[in-house]
Amino acid sequence: MQAQKKKLFIRTFGCQMNVADSEGMAQVLSDQYLLTDRPEEADIYLINTCAIRRKSEEKVRSLLGSLKALKKRRPQLILGVGGCVAQQEGDRLLGAAPHLDLVFGAHGIYRLPQLVARAAAGERPVDVELNRRFPDLPPRSWESYPAQTFVTIMQGCDNFCSFCVVPYVRGREYSREADDIIREIRGFLAAGGLEVTLLGQNVNSYGRGLREPVAFPELLRRVASLRGLQRLRFATSHPRDLSDELIVAFGELSALCEHLHLPVQSGSNPILKAMNRGYTREEYLDKVIRLRQSCPGLALSTDLIVGFPGETAADFEQTLDLMRQARFDQAFSFKYSSRPQTRAAAFPGQAPEDVKAERLARLQSLQDELTLAAHRRLVGQIREVLVESTSKRSSRELCGRLRTNQVVNFHGPQDLMGRLIQVEITEAHPHSLKGRRVETPPPA
Ligand code: 5AD
Ligand code: SF4
Repeated sequence: MQAQKKKLFIRTFGCQMNVADSEGMAQVLSDQYLLTDRPEEADIYLINTCAIRRKSEEKVRSLLGSLKALKKRRPQLILGVGGCVAQQEGDRLLGAAPHLDLVFGAHGIYRLPQLVARAAAGERPVDVELNRRFPDLPPRSWESYPAQTFVTIMQGCDNFCSFCVVPYVRGREYSREADDIIREIRGFLAAGGLEVTLLGQNVNSYGRGLREPVAFPELLRRVASLRGLQRLRFATSHPRDLSDELIVAFGELSALCEHLHLPVQSGSNPILKAMNRGYTREEYLDKVIRLRQSCPGLALSTDLIVGFPGETAADFEQTLDLMRQARFDQAFSFKYSSRPQTRAAAFPGQAPEDVKAERLARLQSLQDELTLAAHRRLVGQIREVLVESTSKRSSRELCGRLRTNQVVNFHGPQDLMGRLIQVEITEAHPHSLKGRRVETPPPA
């Protein structure tokens, strides 16, 4: 009976992969635990951590410190740290936080029921073992799911970009069998789901090492043809591995949304080389041109790092220039931060904080201009929106996403949540759009 289940609270930091992993945690514990959004009533409190930048790691440590008081009030509470910081730190975390009961790494998620039982028995288990194949997951229950979901198709990364800790904390790449992916998505669609995002650190290299080798474009075609699927997205792509076949797919698959996240990291060839990215600025820009030829309305987003070791003022100018040429619709930009085990941590020419801050501010102000210009081009258009939530500012305002991934706020009743509707874009803002719902014309 649900009423007798204990309560589980999960605090998630970091990327979409972590959001999907937190769902996995709730899923494997669902026999005994029910998710709550109130940490003070939790029987288990799990922190799903991110180690990608120093700042993300610091946030985790400060939350962990602040939970001493909760653990004191509720000594029976099982407090666990999982994810990338847990993988990186292992039992050092137990030493640093005596109130911590459990540490589990990227793949320990699937062994959580046993780990939680051991923690409840007074042991302080640490599980940072990395698997070599995709674990068998219990089927997901779709009862309380929104219209949108993430489906993990691969884990880990073999690219070893010189700044990135992911290959060390998430391990080597391995893919999930296509049939298992399709089965999961069919279940979601049968329950009324509309939008699926396929997730992996580097989805373009999906398929290596499978029983039945399936390349990523083929997987996309199979998923796109499933009945009921309205919107298909994927993240994240590596520009080097973005194949011609995938570029063509953007023009052909009607369910595939007109949006691609394609992290470029830098616009300077020497920096791209030092980052071990495996492409030049010219090759990247050539792919952008071909993508836009294949899919004229395509929106592009990217990730950028400023202040990578050795980045000169001229290198940075090259990044600004590439941003203008690629006309990114959105960019996530970060100051370089040195990560344990990575090669770039030992590179000469680590940039001072004030240089990084100044470059980040200039880059962000250029991106704000580019985003606002892209948003202004949408004003007056009628676009399809998937209603996702109530807006942060007002409960009477709803919030949804265009196929091209921009966020739109508009007035409407709560029962539109999870539905696809038509919205006229009325205002452009730097980080969002405002719109007005228009009635959908009856089918011809
Ligand atoms: N410093 C700053 N940004 C980083 N990223 C990854 N590693 C670092 C680092 N050491 C950024 C990259 C990546 C995104 C998820 O995080 O831009 O694409
Ligand atoms: Fe990190 Fe590079 Fe792998 Fe992305 S492709 S997860 S940046 S190593």
